[in-house]
Order: sequence, then structure tokens, then C-alpha cells
Amino acid sequence: MSAVALILAAGEGTRMKSATPKVAHQILGEPMISLVVGVARESGCARVVAVTGHGADEIEALLPSDTEVVRQEQQLGTGHAVLCAREALAGFDGSLVVLSGDTPLLKPETVAGLVAIRESSGAAVAVLTTHLTDPGGYGRIVRDRDGGVSAIVEHKDLTSAEQHITEVNTGTYCFDSRVLFAHLDRLTNENAQGEYYLTDIIALFNSEGLLVTASPAEDPLETLGINSRVQLAEATHVLQKRINMRLMLEGVTMTDPNLVWIGPKARFGRDVEILPMTFVMGESVVGEHARIGPNTRITDSRVAHGAVVDSSVVVSADIGPNATVGPVAYLRPGTVLEARAKAGTSVEIKNSRIGEGSKVPHLSYIGDAEIGADVNVGAGTITCNYDGAEKHGTVIGDGAFIGSDTMLVAPVRIGRGAVTGAASAIAHDVPDDALAVERSEQLIVEGWAARRRKEQAAKKTGKGDTGQ
Ligand code: UD1
Ligand code: CA
Repeated sequence: MSAVALILAAGEGTRMKSATPKVAHQILGEPMISLVVGVARESGCARVVAVTGHGADEIEALLPSDTEVVRQEQQLGTGHAVLCAREALAGFDGSLVVLSGDTPLLKPETVAGLVAIRESSGAAVAVLTTHLTDPGGYGRIVRDRDGGVSAIVEHKDLTSAEQHITEVNTGTYCFDSRVLFAHLDRLTNENAQGEYYLTDIIALFNSEGLLVTASPAEDPLETLGINSRVQLAEATHVLQKRINMRLMLEGVTMTDPNLVWIGPKARFGRDVEILPMTFVMGESVVGEHARIGPNTRITDSRVAHGAVVDSSVVVSADIGPNATVGPVAYLRPGTVLEARAKAGTSVEIKNSRIGEGSKVPHLSYIGDAEIGADVNVGAGTITCNYDGAEKHGTVIGDGAFIGSDTMLVAPVRIGRGAVTGAASAIAHDVPDDALAVERSEQLIVEGWAARRRKEQAAKKTGKGDTGQ
């Protein structure tokens, strides 16, 4: 039978000093709790149960729908949190993986390894430990003379003789579920924090002659528990480095991986180039040979092969093959750039499709528009899509030429191959291949400028002569 994961996520996380519950804080755009659920799934746990309490509604909204939830109404300690899941897990007899919602960097293979150790040894529990040079704040692993684990002692309950212990509890365990739930009732809260510590179960198992095993994780960085914002920043740095290393080894170029932040769900093709100060978050996919950055933020978007995104912000948008974006463009949700389309400098586009090879090169706002292929949108063109109450659409046919500074007062249609004159406010549909101009006729006053220069010069000399 495959393992079940129990994630403890009911604590407030007082050391975060935050109105947001601790496990809802994000690392590279993903809430901590989501990362931990991911670890549980990828390590092979068929069922995932989360214990929620503090900020339960907020946390539960972040959980995938196939995660089960049990509530711990009062946060009386980690032992009590596990006890809250007893009913939900009543029918289960097998390996129960207990994870902390605040330990998001674990590698799935480490958790799978812990399950294998317990199952092959037949132990009541296998504890994941690690060695730290600065073990402050963690529970310590107390071993007997033969190397067996006799107890876990919490930081605040350490005797001076135990202070020197550098092997710590990572808060990650694999239990024999039946044995665990048969003993949990016997935990007490007689300790420095007045809590029911899950860690006390180790000494209890020992007193019953049950087998306890503990093995250290290879990399102490993956067991980092996040209690403060300082540790949140450390964890971000660890994950940033891990993701960037993997991507570079998979064929992505980064000028400086310290200045690139990629979320764990983002996917990249080979020969992508990422320039400094670039963030790619959420479910983003970047195709081969795309070049993104510098100074770029892309969230939940697709950037197809060969596209270039320079110094821009892209949110829930779809950038086609060999399209170009920026410098300094803002593509908002629902933007689709077809192949070879261009959204240039100081251009904002929302909920609009820009057809193949069409260009919006400079200083434009395009909202709620359908633009065909090979359209040129002149500098300063604006779709006036909002009348103060409702949004309206603009449609521009293939091959149309929109003159600079055109105001397209929506709803409006510009026909295929049509042309609008610069500075026109176009409020009526324009037929295919027609010209639409809306501006007052130009006035020419011959010699006016020369006359003015003369007058101005005369005034100046007049001033100098005031004494005469
Ligand atoms: C815990 C361990 C400690 C270990 C450390 C590793 C205990 C008693 N101590 O300490 O040995 O070194 O993790 O990071 O287990 N939680 C609940 N309900 C509660 C209390 C906590 O769900 O009533 C959850 C928290 O949301 C958190 C996790 O359990 O995700 C751990 O709690 P936390 O208070 O952070 O424990 P630590 O003091 O870090
Ligand atoms: Ca913790």
C-alpha cells in the first residue's frame, strides 16, 4: 500500500510577525503550503491530508482540490495536530509521512528514501534529521551510546549537556500509522511551551521497546524550516539557486543566475537566454531560443520560440513565435501576439489579439481589440474602449494602416486594407480599402513666421534703447 502524507499547517507562525498565516507566504511566487503538497505528491504519496487551523480558510483555498483537510481548532502543538487526523486516517494501515507546512525545500526523493528506510527496517518511525553548525531553534536528536535515537529534545527544553548536539529534527517523519495513533493519546504538555510535542513520541516508542530509526538528509539546505522572514529569504535564495542550476544544465543561458528569479512551475526550452533582473513566475512556458530580460516580469504566460521580451511586464499573455515585446511594454491578461507580431516601446495591450506580423511599435493602448494580420498601428494610437460604464471592442482588418495618434472610439471596425489619417478620432466604421480622416483642414498663413521674428527682434532693440 502506498504512503499517505499528513501536512501540519495549523500554526500561526508568530515569528513571521504577519497578518498572513505562515504557510501562505510565498517563495518564488508559490505559497509554502503548495510547495509542500507538491513534495508529498512527487514523493509518491497517494493521499495528502492537511491539518489546518490558524487562517484555515486562507490556507484551504490554496490547496489543490484532491487534498483532504482536517481542522485543528486550537493549536495545542504538533502532537495534537497529528491527533486531529486520527479519525480521517482511521482505515489506513501503512506508512504515514508527516511533513511540516513550513519546510518547503525538501526533495521528493529524500521523502521517498525515508519511507523506504522505515519499510525495510520495520521501524515504528523513521525520522529525517540533519547536521547544522548553528542548530538554534531546532529540536535536537539525542542518541544513546550505540547510536540509537533515544529522544528528541526541543530547543527550549535542552539541558546544558544537550546544547552541543548538532544533529537536529527536520520535522519530517515516516510513521507506522497504526503504532502512531495507538500511542498519541499518551503525550503530555509538560514542557517549556506547554504544548503536545509530536517529538515526545520518540522517547515513548523507546520505552515500549519499539524500533526508532533516524537518518540525516544529504543536504541540510533542503530541510530548512521557515519560522521568520529571514529564513523565508534564505529559502527563496536556496530555491532560486536550485532552479537556476537545473535550468542552466538543461540548456538555458543566464548572464547572472543571482539576478534571475524563476518559479518552480515555469518551463523553458533549450537555448533560451535570460538576462538580469528577470522574474518568470507561475505556469509560464518559454520556448526555444526566446530571449527575455533584462528587467522583465513574466507571470502565467506563454512565450513561444524565438520571441524577444525586453524590459517588460507580461501577465497571463500569449506571445507567439518570433514576436517582439518592449522595451517597456505591458501585456495584460488576454493579450495574444501571433507569430512575428510586435508590441513595442511604451505599449499597453489588454484582452486583444494582434495578428501575424502586425505591429504596434510605439506609445499605444490597445484594449478589447481584434487586429488582423500585417496591420501597422501608428505611434500614439489609442483604442478608446471604455465609455465610463462599459467596455467596447475594436476590430481592425488585415493589412490596415492606422495613422499615428488615431483615436479608435469603440465599438468600431476598420476594414481590410483601410487607412486612417494621423490624429483622427475614428468613431464610425471604415469600409475595406477606404481612407478615413477626421481633422480640421490645415491653414497656411504665408510669411507669418518671418514677420513674427522681425517683430520680436524689434522689441528687443527697443528695450536696449529706452534711454534715448
Ligand atoms: C518543530 C519540531 C522541532 C523541529 C522543527 C523543524 C515539534 C515540537 N518540534 O519545531 O523538533 O526541529 O519543527 O522545523 O514538533 N503546527 C500545527 N499545529 C500546532 C503547532 C504546529 O499544525 O498546534 C504546525 C505548524 O503550522 C508548522 C509545523 O506544525 O507547519 C511545525 O510547527 P512549528 O511551531 O514551526 O515548530 P518548530 O518550533 O519549528
Ligand atoms: Ca518550524
